Amino acid sequence: MKLLKRVSEVKAWRQLSNSLGFVPTMGALHDGHLSLVEKSKSQNEQTLASIFVNPTQFNDPKDLQNYPRDIEADCALLNKAGVDAVFLPEADEIYQDKYRYRISESEFSKILCGAFRPGHFDGVLTVVMKLLNIVQPHRCYMGEKDYQQLQLVKDMAATFFMSTDIVPCPTLREPDGLAMSSRNRLLSADQRERAPRLYQALRRSDPIPTVVQDLETFGFKVEYLEEHFGRRFVAAKLGHVRLIDNVEI
Ligand code: PAF
Repeated sequence: MKLLKRVSEVKAWRQLSNSLGFVPTMGALHDGHLSLVEKSKSQNEQTLASIFVNPTQFNDPKDLQNYPRDIEADCALLNKAGVDAVFLPEADEIYQDKYRYRISESEFSKILCGAFRPGHFDGVLTVVMKLLNIVQPHRCYMGEKDYQQLQLVKDMAATFFMSTDIVPCPTLREPDGLAMSSRNRLLSADQRERAPRLYQALRRSDPIPTVVQDLETFGFKVEYLEEHFGRRFVAAKLGHVRLIDNVEI
């Protein structure tokens, strides 16, 4: 597995590929990420993953600081999964413009997570645009757990006539229903026990205020529980750990 740190290295490596799948990540990898890699490998001759904890999508500096990082373990997992190359850039390499230029969407990015994390989706869309321009993959694999992100990226790719196909991949869950997420490893044992209630809440047929109240009783601080486009979305905090999930209804 090739380790690439500079944009120029990715561009040179990329020239050798006629069928390239891309899995963008922020590291702290879990089986959900590995399922994206597996799908990419089944549809492309080569797969490149990136690990970059993108500072511009964190509206809270403490959240950025506490975001889980384990590059060595991540690289070992990607190597074992058969990834051909990993892009591990520094922030200065990606933001040579110091974030003077950015991509912004004015409607869908303002609700749900966007309403609670100002600027979050500007950061996500900007970094994904940059990564897609660097890697120029045929296909890019993204999880449905971050459904709002996935839709915004799909829409951006269509809006800017980009040639990468954005491929949605289903959410992977732990046996107790908790959606796999890098942030799960920040949960204490007690919080981890309570966390599956979020998925249960998404599937309950009781009125939304009742479900919210029950979650709060179990110690969640609910940001939203809302329905849009035939899906139910939730974001809630357990202590400092922010969890999100969504299901089709
Ligand atoms: O979902 C993520 O891990 C990130 O938001 C992404 C798409 C890699 C952009 O930083």
